[in-house]
Amino acid sequence: MKILSIETSCDETSVAIVEDRTVLSNVTSTQIEEHKIYGGVVPEIASRRHTEAISQVCAEALKQAGLAYSDIEAVAVTFAPGLIGALLVGVNFAKGLALSLDVPLIPVHHLRSHIAANYIDTPDLKPPFLCLLVSGGNTVIAEVADYTSFKIIGGTLDDAAGECLDKAARCMGLNYPGGVNLDKIATLADNKKYPLPYPKVSTGKYDFSFSGLKTAVLNLVHNAKQKGEEIDIPVVCATIRQRVCDMLINNTINAAKEFGHKSIVLAGGVSANSELRSRMESECKRLDIKLYCPPLKYCTDNAAMVGAQAIYEYESGNVSDSSLNAIATLPIDYRS
Ligand code: KG4
Repeated sequence: MKILSIETSCDETSVAIVEDRTVLSNVTSTQIEEHKIYGGVVPEIASRRHTEAISQVCAEALKQAGLAYSDIEAVAVTFAPGLIGALLVGVNFAKGLALSLDVPLIPVHHLRSHIAANYIDTPDLKPPFLCLLVSGGNTVIAEVADYTSFKIIGGTLDDAAGECLDKAARCMGLNYPGGVNLDKIATLADNKKYPLPYPKVSTGKYDFSFSGLKTAVLNLVHNAKQKGEEIDIPVVCATIRQRVCDMLINNTINAAKEFGHKSIVLAGGVSANSELRSRMESECKRLDIKLYCPPLKYCTDNAAMVGAQAIYEYESGNVSDSSLNAIATLPIDYRS
């Protein structure tokens, strides 16, 4: 089934044509350069740029796939969670397109798509597996029992891991998206000497807390500035990256052991983090667990992953009509 899929949940306008797990085209117009000057995404600007870009991006995706609108058999769209104004652009475009082509409209949850990025060109990956989903706005450990059946077993109580890395990077003057630059600069450090905390969590044993770590970095940087002291930026970057990775890896590996999972899937933008990938690889190898990481080009927001999840949503009967609305916050285990 040839599915035209649309992603506009944050700052990338992306349209892809996906057939089963094969990507026929994936075209993304990024707004990063424009948001960079503000140090983060400005929601109103994001919505406007999606509106300007979406028709062209869609036409280009069809062209690159060598298809016409009449070849499209379904339209899929990210409807939740995300920036509400940004989501609405994609949802309304998808509704109009599905109606005019007279094809099914498939609503897709953004975090489910991030997991599905791993399905692309990887036929051997099938549920059940354990997933660590780490992005700019979410940090969740979930058991994926089936393609559309999820059980959350841990998550952040405050900030997402990506938010912690991005804000820490911003306060050290690194360009947006900070987590990417923090990862690069951390590799230049020769030690991890800064006394940053490991936030403790007293709820579920697989839950996380990152806000204390973020605040500790902000305080460290501001105190140094007030005293006119230099901070060693690569070493701070390496220390915070190590703390975040320790928490993510420990919880995920312990959960895999407790629930007997022999496959772990990484998903979300932070799954591109080089330390997270390499340490997870060696831990999984040591424990004889199979690790799946999305290709780097599908780690951050894109429409190919929406199409990869859409086929399973369609097969499970998750099809919508023109009353589909965008939702800013929705857990991955929602029932349609
Ligand atoms: O999944 P994503 O694109 O957006 C959300 O859906 O939230 O994730 C964005 C996060 C940001 O925190 C960004 O700094 C991080 O992913 N990220 C990376 C890399 N690319 C994106 N972190 C480290 N290395 C990268 N190459």
